[in-house]
Amino acid sequence: MSNENSFKSKIAEKLIFGYSMSRSALFLLESKPLPYIRRLFDKRAFVEPPEDFKKYSLDELKQLLMDDSENIAAGVYPQSVLSVERPTKHFKRVLKIWKDAFFIAYRRSRNKNKEFSNKASLLLDSLPSYYKRNFHNQTDGYLSTESAEIYDHQVDMLFSGSTDAMRRTILKPLKNHFKSQRKLKILELGCGAGSFTQFLVKSFPDAQVIAVDLSSPYLEKAKEKLKGENVSFICGEGESLDFKDETFDAVVSVFLFHELPESIREKIIIESKRVLKKGGFFGLVDSLQSHDNKKLNWALNEFPKSFHEPFYKNYTLNPIEDLIEKVFEVNATKVSKHFLSKCVSIEKSI
Ligand SMILES: C[S@@+](CC[C@H](N)C(=O)[O-])C[C@H]1O[C@@H](n2cnc3c(N)ncnc32)[C@H](O)[C@@H]1O
Repeated sequence: MSNENSFKSKIAEKLIFGYSMSRSALFLLESKPLPYIRRLFDKRAFVEPPEDFKKYSLDELKQLLMDDSENIAAGVYPQSVLSVERPTKHFKRVLKIWKDAFFIAYRRSRNKNKEFSNKASLLLDSLPSYYKRNFHNQTDGYLSTESAEIYDHQVDMLFSGSTDAMRRTILKPLKNHFKSQRKLKILELGCGAGSFTQFLVKSFPDAQVIAVDLSSPYLEKAKEKLKGENVSFICGEGESLDFKDETFDAVVSVFLFHELPESIREKIIIESKRVLKKGGFFGLVDSLQSHDNKKLNWALNEFPKSFHEPFYKNYTLNPIEDLIEKVFEVNATKVSKHFLSKCVSIEKSI
């Protein structure tokens, strides 16, 4: 890179970092009323993080946003991943989230985690039992249009606006794996409302992307976001995929595994390996686990106390890279850690 280009890239990086930090501050601010709403229903509801955790996690958050800005400025993924939405749309959603927080807090205080509206109940029959619950105590779990509308924003309040940067950490190893951008076939499992799917499509414009999820309302939201793009959406289980062996160049997922029972985690990895071509890429982004970064374990311990996450503790205690290596029959996972998330990948060699 010439001196002039490298100077421009540094400026771009600083501007993107400034934008990301401001966005982060906004989400942090928006999340401030939530503990008070919780406290209305449960006096023990909110535990203040220790000071050293606060300081360290802020440093880790900054590092994540800095790395993300560097990747964008260097063209690892395009600047269009930073789409800005209309402020009115954004703030209307904030109001909906604050309102919904009362229902979440009520459900949480009464330990009610299998409550669904009549409409959402109609979807339950065809779903696996581990999934028929209000994950995070959220209204209708993953089973309504209203839930799909606010989900991404709720998660961003939890992670102070850093969720997308964590999601994007898998793009660099994915790009590095495929030296040329030939017409790849990529499968995304547990795509939810399509936030990562968007990044995938923008970063691999020539690829054919297929995205699977168990929630039909979330898939509808994802379709709306990715209208006109080369993506197919399928409602189904990651542990039983309707694809032939060796169909895909890559299988990826973001924040899926911490929500699964241990046996299903293994089944999904086995299915992923089956549908991957030899030499293909399997990768995921998910929560840190207990052995990853002790200084952040406070958050890992608090998370399942604050939200209905029945399989999270088991997830944190069983290194996902060990399970992947067992299924792929090779000790070759690559692991990197980014704020509260980790990115794990492996090549299918046999
Ligand atoms: C925590 S959300 C993450 C969604 C999305 N990847 C993101 O980054 O926001 C987990 C998603 O996995 C889906 N899911 C859970 N179990 C699944 C399974 N067995 N097969 C397919 N999708 C599943 C849920 O419906 C939900 O959309």
